[in-house]
Amino acid sequence: MDWHVRAFLKASLAWLTLGVTLGVAMAAHPLWTIYRPAHVHMNLLGFVTMMIYGVGYHVIPRFSGHPLHNARAPRWHWWMSNLGLALMVVGFCVRAHALPVGTPLLATGGTLAAAGAYTFVYVIWRTIDGPAGMRRAMQRTERAMTTSARPRLPLAEKQNAG
Ligand code: HEM
Ligand code: HEM
Repeated sequence: MDWHVRAFLKASLAWLTLGVTLGVAMAAHPLWTIYRPAHVHMNLLGFVTMMIYGVGYHVIPRFSGHPLHNARAPRWHWWMSNLGLALMVVGFCVRAHALPVGTPLLATGGTLAAAGAYTFVYVIWRTIDGPAGMRRAMQRTERAMTTSARPRLPLAEKQNAG
């Protein structure tokens, strides 16, 4: 298993632990539901999305039969998504107390998390398409096979006629 796959799966489990713990805390102390957006994003952006990132990076190259379009991008993606979500969680909690610093924290975290998501979309999209070189080589082979098949036809016809 690649480093980034392991790291996304473990981050997903860590966010699930934190998310459900905050959920139980909110269930026990109804006043703490001011932290609901933090709980929602720990579970949905942390647990669900990070699990999908990890499984996607492992499975899609194998399903498509193409290597990952960029082998280093998932590491950057991991840092952007996790740092971004951590800032978002702090931002949501701070904003729940109407402190103005919450908004820049949330906006910075959200931008990082979104950049991570865009990285995933780009890398997986290009992986599904396959390497350009491999595609061009296949097209060249196909063209060569069709053109080399054509001159044989009249020859075969001549032989048949003979
Ligand atoms: C032991 C596990 C969990 C507990 C105790 C829990 C508890 C809660 C509580 C108390 C609320 C606030 C409800 C209110 O506004 O009055 C809430 C909201 C929410 N939770 Fe959880 N939760 C848990 C797990 C999860 C998980 C795993 C997810 C997603 C994968 C999730 C998604 C949500 C969402 C989306 C909301 C907001 C619902 C809305 O906007 O009305 N929760 N949860
Ligand atoms: C970069 C990514 C994301 C950013 C910056 C973001 C930002 C936000 C913000 C600012 C809110 C309003 C919170 C409030 O009421 O104060 C919100 C709400 C919400 N978001 Fe996101 N979000 C992101 C990704 C996601 C994803 C991937 C999901 C689900 C898979 C999701 C599900 C929700 C839900 C369910 C709510 C309503 C929460 C509630 O009931 O309190 N978000 N989001």
